[in-house]
Amino acid sequence: MTDFSETNWAKADFSKEYAENADIFILERRRLLEILKSFYRNFLAGRKNNILDLGCGDGVLTRELLGIDGSISATLVDASDDMLRRAKERLKAYEEVRLIKTGFQELLEKDALPESFDFIVSSLAIHHLDKGEKNSLFEYIYSHLNPGGYFLNIDVVLSPSEGLEEWYLLLWKEWIVERQEALNSREDFTDVPDRYKNKDNKPDILEDQLSALKSIGFKEVDCFYKYGIFSVYGGRRK
Ligand SMILES: C[S@@+](CC[C@H](N)C(=O)[O-])C[C@H]1O[C@@H](n2cnc3c(N)ncnc32)[C@H](O)[C@@H]1O
Repeated sequence: MTDFSETNWAKADFSKEYAENADIFILERRRLLEILKSFYRNFLAGRKNNILDLGCGDGVLTRELLGIDGSISATLVDASDDMLRRAKERLKAYEEVRLIKTGFQELLEKDALPESFDFIVSSLAIHHLDKGEKNSLFEYIYSHLNPGGYFLNIDVVLSPSEGLEEWYLLLWKEWIVERQEALNSREDFTDVPDRYKNKDNKPDILEDQLSALKSIGFKEVDCFYKYGIFSVYGGRRK
């Protein structure tokens, strides 16, 4: 099993670099978040929802959702103390927010969160698990969704060929260059796509993940958006 304490995410300076600069190097991050919100408005708004944010980092996803629906009751999970501290600060204005320190592995092994949710979201976290762990987490998600509840994952995926992977990483780098120019950034993050190829990142092919969701029982499984290796996909519990 993947051991969180042996990953870069267990180091405070690594999560600090991510939290402070992700807007510069996460490809089309703003658009990814807008798609999340549009999905919420279309399929979930208009009732009181209980949501779960897996690998919440500094709480960016939940904050976006609370911005359009303040009635949400949110549970955020991450294994990093540093990220949870940032999430607590970001979400301090909201009362119905619960932060839980746990790794995905412990979630699966101990079922530390026995309740069910209307919407389970995740962003750029599930690719840290290997394929078997991803599939177990998808099963966990399915069994912790209320009937009719939705799962949406923003994540990087593995390309089906080396040629496509190379091109997608180039597209990513080009986007970072544009973004840095637009923001007049003094720091250079164009090495992030190269650094992305490390032991902590275990992306799998999108089709395999969609198939896994379908075989677990998810309905309306689809890729809602894709740009290079960045994708948004998910489905609904029957
Ligand atoms: C790239 S960050 C994404 C954070 C946030 N969701 C966002 O979109 O900005 C990945 C997050 O996953 C968390 N993470 C990585 N592996 C994990 C694991 N095995 N269990 C729980 N959280 C994990 C890290 O601590 C980090 O906060």
